[in-house]
Amino acid sequence: MKNHIMPTYASLPVRFVKGEGAWLWDDKGNKYLDALSGVAVCGLGHAHPEVAAAISEQANTLIHTSNLYCIDKQEKLATKLCELTGMNDAFFGNSGAEANEAAIKIARRFAHSKGVEDSIIVTMNNSFHGRTLATLTATGNLKVKEGFGPLPDGFRHIPYNDIPALEALAQQQANIVAVMVEPIQGESGINIPAADYLNQLRDMCDKNDWLLILDEIQTGIGRTGTFLASQQNNVQADVVTLAKALGNGVPIGACLTHGKATGLLTASSHGSTFGGNPLACAAALSVLDVLEREQLAGRATQLGEQMRLAFQQALKGCSHVVDIRQKGLMIGIELATPCTELVSEALEQKLLINVAGGNTVRLLPPLTISDDEANRISAIVSKLIIAH
Ligand SMILES: Cc1ncc(COP(=O)(O)O)c(C=O)c1O
Repeated sequence: MKNHIMPTYASLPVRFVKGEGAWLWDDKGNKYLDALSGVAVCGLGHAHPEVAAAISEQANTLIHTSNLYCIDKQEKLATKLCELTGMNDAFFGNSGAEANEAAIKIARRFAHSKGVEDSIIVTMNNSFHGRTLATLTATGNLKVKEGFGPLPDGFRHIPYNDIPALEALAQQQANIVAVMVEPIQGESGINIPAADYLNQLRDMCDKNDWLLILDEIQTGIGRTGTFLASQQNNVQADVVTLAKALGNGVPIGACLTHGKATGLLTASSHGSTFGGNPLACAAALSVLDVLEREQLAGRATQLGEQMRLAFQQALKGCSHVVDIRQKGLMIGIELATPCTELVSEALEQKLLINVAGGNTVRLLPPLTISDDEANRISAIVSKLIIAH
């Protein structure tokens, strides 16, 4: 039978039909351990009973009205997110790219409010911010942009984790208005910057009156051990974007603003038909309830540490292991050579993993996994790496 799906993904030959916790079942009844969570989406695992109940109850009550009317659960979710992050306002869309589009539009409005017409947003090499035209332009990876020109103007890229590079660019460009950055680069291989990198960026943004936009789409919602990764630096951004794990699989993205970034998007200046509808907000509210009650961010810290130690022990003396990087349950094991075939090899062992940046095994298991499940992931992955 002809497949009518546009081939934008080289999908693996497996079809999942059911999930529970960290486990997935395919259409042949095989059971797989999920160490990827749909790429940092199902942070509470699959078919979480409380999230499922919230979705089902909301679906049976009211799925969608429109942002033309007030939405109780959207207001509650905005309040909750602002409480958790210290931000002031929220805009809801349906994906990470949409949250970042809102952030970019806020930066442009900020520029215009200062009389800067040809503004520049600084983003990083090897970053990933999405697939829409503006967010792929912000993204620091040429492959993502290939064949999509003409691209929007107003972005400059510098190396990640390189404050002198930003200082040098600031010397040349008087029209910078914002710096957009991931606290940890996920898609390019779990790149963790210097401990004070975000603090230094905050200082530079304050000194120059630029907005600090933190893309916490992959790092947020407890993944790295705190609700936002930037909270480990006590850094308050002007704009924070969230998506992925916020709805545990129900599409929702959020763009949060603070201080001078607040109030720039006004009536009719931005919107999204589905953004923040009752169904998505009910899912997100239940995710935040479970996350808080079960202290899953703390669990991510403890379990991530445990997994890193297990990898360090198992891979000791393995000369083709270049680096093991970890913050909470965001784990990257960089190898000396490309290793994408490890994904299929793990699949044969009934384990879902990912390779990012070509040579880094990336693990993003649900924050709800048990010690036994974590040990099983570490054991299988270590064995595959040793044999590679
Ligand atoms: C840091 C980061 N920003 C933005 C995105 C884009 O999110 P979405 O695919 O939901 O548009 C991703 C997705 O991988 C991401 O990791």
